[in-house]
Amino acid sequence: MNSTKQSIEFFKNLRAEAEKKADIIERIKEMYECFFCFAMIWSYGACLDESKREFNGYLRSTCTKLKFPEAGTVFDYFYDPIEHKWIHWMEKVKSYVPNDECLFSSLVVSTAETQRQKYLLTMHTEAKKGLLYVGTAGTGKTTIVLDYFNDVDGDVVLTSQVNFNSYTSSMSLQVVVESNVQKRTGTLYGPPTGKTLIYFVDDLNMPKVDKYFTQQPICLVRQLIDYGTFYDRADLSVQKRIADILFVSCMNPKAGSFFVDVRLTRHLTSVCLSVPEKEILSTIYTQMLAGHFKEFDEKIQKLGPKIISATQKVFQDMSKNPKFAPTAKKFFYQFNMRDFAKIIQNILTTLPKEYKGKEFEMVRVWAHECHRVW
Ligand SMILES: Nc1ncnc2c1ncn2[C@@H]1O[C@H](COP(=O)(O)OP(=O)(O)OP(=O)(O)O)[C@@H](O)[C@H]1O
Ligand SMILES: [Mg+2]
Repeated sequence: MNSTKQSIEFFKNLRAEAEKKADIIERIKEMYECFFCFAMIWSYGACLDESKREFNGYLRSTCTKLKFPEAGTVFDYFYDPIEHKWIHWMEKVKSYVPNDECLFSSLVVSTAETQRQKYLLTMHTEAKKGLLYVGTAGTGKTTIVLDYFNDVDGDVVLTSQVNFNSYTSSMSLQVVVESNVQKRTGTLYGPPTGKTLIYFVDDLNMPKVDKYFTQQPICLVRQLIDYGTFYDRADLSVQKRIADILFVSCMNPKAGSFFVDVRLTRHLTSVCLSVPEKEILSTIYTQMLAGHFKEFDEKIQKLGPKIISATQKVFQDMSKNPKFAPTAKKFFYQFNMRDFAKIIQNILTTLPKEYKGKEFEMVRVWAHECHRVW
């Protein structure tokens, strides 16, 4: 039901966006099938995890007229109404600019995944609809949303982040919401007129379940979306109305409460993020290493891609080895992108002067990091 609602809304948004372009308005009806298909991909398809491949097969065999390119899956393409064809998200990827000044955790490499999620987030912000990213640990949920926040136009969109944990109460959420809005008139509050304020709720499912089987902060978010109001805690007779706010959230279904109130999730577009594909992992870290090794010897520069493929091999062997399958006692046997990132993060701390003509030493650093992390 939710997916059907999502696909209809998606279709409407795509049509509205295309109608803004004067040169295609006359042939817009020819594009409806592509819009419909794209809407299906990002509603029925977006909430799937392992069955994404089956969905890809189903859509390709059903919508034969649409001529999806052969390579990859239908999730890898977006429909361009001007050129009237399907284009790979990779074409939107921006080149990576190395930055030694900022923290490693804030380094983001533009990939097909970040680009398509940025597109979804932009569309949802314009349509004033919330989004919920669901995925296991280290699938890049937080990174995607924060990367989008770095790119938003501050004149139109304001952002605020709130991390839920098992102690978060509805009161603490209300304090955060209130501290980011200002009084407009009477009991109406909101961001400055003409702007939309996006609250990024990370780890949405973490708050503890109370004796009524509800999670208080989640109920408050639902109330804000449903009614746009909450009560003044100091004077319960005053109802405060909050306008122009939006919620984007992330949750890991394997941590915290497994169940989130469906009365909230029905308001949000659910998108499932899986462990990044081999190519995406390799794109991210090869570019980071290449940027760092620019000042190093040529021999070390050539080591970059080899380090990445070797790390990938170890990573895959570890995650597929039944000896390292997580058990109740060894629950920490979870291998994800974060481990990969830790290895590269430490290689990025090496200095060119210390490794002049010592490529073997660099391999030792890599081996040491692998031992340390795994
Ligand atoms: N596009 C990217 N560019 C650079 N690093 C990335 C990118 N995507 C993910 N990462 C890295 O992957 C790791 C995991 O990402 P992130 O913290 O966003 O995962 P998460 O899904 O929010 O995990 P959790 O559920 O544990 O919060 C981080 O170290 C992050 O820096
Ligand atoms: Mg996170």
